[in-house]
Amino acid sequence: MHPQLKSRCPLSLKTVCSVRHRSYNEGIDFLGGFILYTVFVQIELVLLLFLCIFSWIAGVKASRLLYSRNRERMHRKASKLLFWSWFLAVPAAAIGGVAFWMQQSFDPLFWQDRLFIHAPLVLLPIAGIWLMAVPKLWKLRKMTGSQADPADIEASSLDASVYQKAAEPGLVVPFQIMALGALTALYFALVPPIPFQWIAIAVPAALFLAASAGLWWRHALRCKQIGKLEVYTVPALWKRALTMTGVLAVCAAAIAFLIDYGMKNSHLPAELNMASGVAEYGNGTSTADMSTHQHHMSVGGMNTTTGSKAKLVSVTDLTGPRTGTPDRQFTLTAQKQTVQLSSGKMVDAWTYNGQIPGTELRMKEGELVEVTLVNQDIEQGVTLHWHGLDVPNAEDGVAGATQNAVMPGETYTYRFRAEQVGTFWYHSHQVSQEAVNKGLFGALIVEPKEPKVSAPVQAERQAEQGQPAQSVQPARLQEKDITVLTHVWKNAGFALGASDTVERMTIAPGTPVRMRLINTDDWVTQKYTLVGTHFEVAAIDGTSLNKPDVLANTHLELTTGGRYDITFVMPEHPVFLSVGGKQDLGVFMTPDGQGDIPVIPATVPFNALHYGQKAATPFDENSKFTREFTMILDNKLGFYNGNFDFLYTLNGEVFPNTPMFMVKEGDLVKTTIVNRGSVEHPMHLHGHHVLVLSHNGKPSTGTPWWSDTLDVRPGDTYEVAFIANNPGLWMDHCHNLTHAAAGMTMHLMYEGITTPFSVGSSTHNHPE
Ligand code: C2O
Ligand code: CU
Repeated sequence: MHPQLKSRCPLSLKTVCSVRHRSYNEGIDFLGGFILYTVFVQIELVLLLFLCIFSWIAGVKASRLLYSRNRERMHRKASKLLFWSWFLAVPAAAIGGVAFWMQQSFDPLFWQDRLFIHAPLVLLPIAGIWLMAVPKLWKLRKMTGSQADPADIEASSLDASVYQKAAEPGLVVPFQIMALGALTALYFALVPPIPFQWIAIAVPAALFLAASAGLWWRHALRCKQIGKLEVYTVPALWKRALTMTGVLAVCAAAIAFLIDYGMKNSHLPAELNMASGVAEYGNGTSTADMSTHQHHMSVGGMNTTTGSKAKLVSVTDLTGPRTGTPDRQFTLTAQKQTVQLSSGKMVDAWTYNGQIPGTELRMKEGELVEVTLVNQDIEQGVTLHWHGLDVPNAEDGVAGATQNAVMPGETYTYRFRAEQVGTFWYHSHQVSQEAVNKGLFGALIVEPKEPKVSAPVQAERQAEQGQPAQSVQPARLQEKDITVLTHVWKNAGFALGASDTVERMTIAPGTPVRMRLINTDDWVTQKYTLVGTHFEVAAIDGTSLNKPDVLANTHLELTTGGRYDITFVMPEHPVFLSVGGKQDLGVFMTPDGQGDIPVIPATVPFNALHYGQKAATPFDENSKFTREFTMILDNKLGFYNGNFDFLYTLNGEVFPNTPMFMVKEGDLVKTTIVNRGSVEHPMHLHGHHVLVLSHNGKPSTGTPWWSDTLDVRPGDTYEVAFIANNPGLWMDHCHNLTHAAAGMTMHLMYEGITTPFSVGSSTHNHPE
């Protein structure tokens, strides 16, 4: 056992601490890479910015050398510039160092641009300064410093030949090229040319070279003119100021024009068919007809199809069972409602059935479920998306892709068979960022067909491991099933559903407990700490894990949209589920209503990669994949729908320029997801669960880990795979809905699928 864990063990956990702590070291490792990457990226950005500013100042100083009115001043200025040569070398070398270090510890996609583009752009100019400008400066300094008599110095004017030396392009221009190089590197850092594209690199590089040549030419000219003069007189200040203002004004105007042009050009089309998009077929062995088809589908084209020989199928035909009496029926009415939280705070919510969260939908495995959606008064429209449930495409509830948004006064019926057992949730997929934040969501639980055998499995396992079984009740107690939906309400803060104070419940000792943690937030990775008992993570994203290990002193970090089921047997003392590491938010479970909320101990993060035990999967990392894709998550400065902003990109683009991954039914698809950006992105693929094959090069060694909402942190590389067995047009997006609303969304598209629906300002459909 790890010594640190021992010392951290609170008294009530004494026995707990002797169980296995498999995730301890991996926890550190797991966080370490993520922090390291973020730190590197930020340091590099700061250095580039710093270098831009200071090399620009040095460049201005260099070109002003010849405005020195006398020998002494020129001498002083030359000395100062020599200092600047040193001063600029430090950040430039550091930028090279960062690239080098990143090359040591990360995959090429993370550092290629830094090592091969940023570093040369700052290191070559600094070399230019040292090889060309410094010797000249040195000479100039000597030339102007030898006349020692101070009285003489003040009076002495310089002759034109000295001024000509001070104006030499070899002395002045390297400093200016340094500034241009740093600026170009900063541009590449803010607009990464990744995935690699010649044009994205060539255009800025050509501009850089042209500007450098232009400066050289201009300074060569100036130097020549001075050489022709008998007597050189320093131009008046107003003249210099005028030139400077002119140059700045031209630059500012050019930038303003480009930004304005970019903004105007980024407006989304008024109507855009979701089946159109930039098709990408991946590398692989799939012999589909697809590979011979045109690779660029017209964006904005209506009903563009994707496989000419394949029979075309509309998403509207891919429904659940349309006939047959449903085993379960629900009606969800979308309506505005002011709801009171447990603390008394009021929330102006958008609700299903007037409550937040909406009615919990519980059903049994295999049941035919019918849900009628009624929109009472949500003017923006609503839909129902079954997050994590792999329903037939037409039932998926994405406005503009699988249906039209349901407008006030309208109804819509969904029918599907609940095939997966587990914890899911539903939410509107129309203006989803606003809708989900305001409350249009609820839990969806699919219970197993057979009633749960409630013998406390965990206690048995404990006994296996030679632990004293904690009050195992021979009687089979009904499992206590607790749904914990965490959400942050605008103007009211964090809550579990509508309860923003500690929820208290009494549970008889020996009762098996299942807590279903669902994070419905937007861009909040929620932290859950269970204090007072050891526990197991029984399921992730609605899929049961194989032989989960017993955990203690471990907290769970749940990404937005993700779910964890945790199970434990109620001990004879209180147990507290703390949300967000707080003592005043969570679920306090006691055998008898007595006891105080415990202090939250220090814990390590849970890591699913090596948790539980291996089990057979339909494929694994050694399988032959028929299609392989790379999905790069990143940031860039750019334009989206009329705004100029920092964008969250998928393969360098925002919707609708993001790729559309093309598959055909039966493909075994592997995707490598790489996060080069500065924030985490919970990637959510509709209609499928992906099997996590590896994380940062380490293969998954524990339980099969199937995910539908995978938290990809900065510096992370995940290899995931799935079988293309659910034809349709499927959203694949970041579940930080703020990011999705800003264009971080793309599609998985099956060959031969069409949709009659479209998105855009001339339609009612705005899925994000
Ligand atoms: Cu939970 Cu595309 O959504
Ligand atoms: Cu994101």
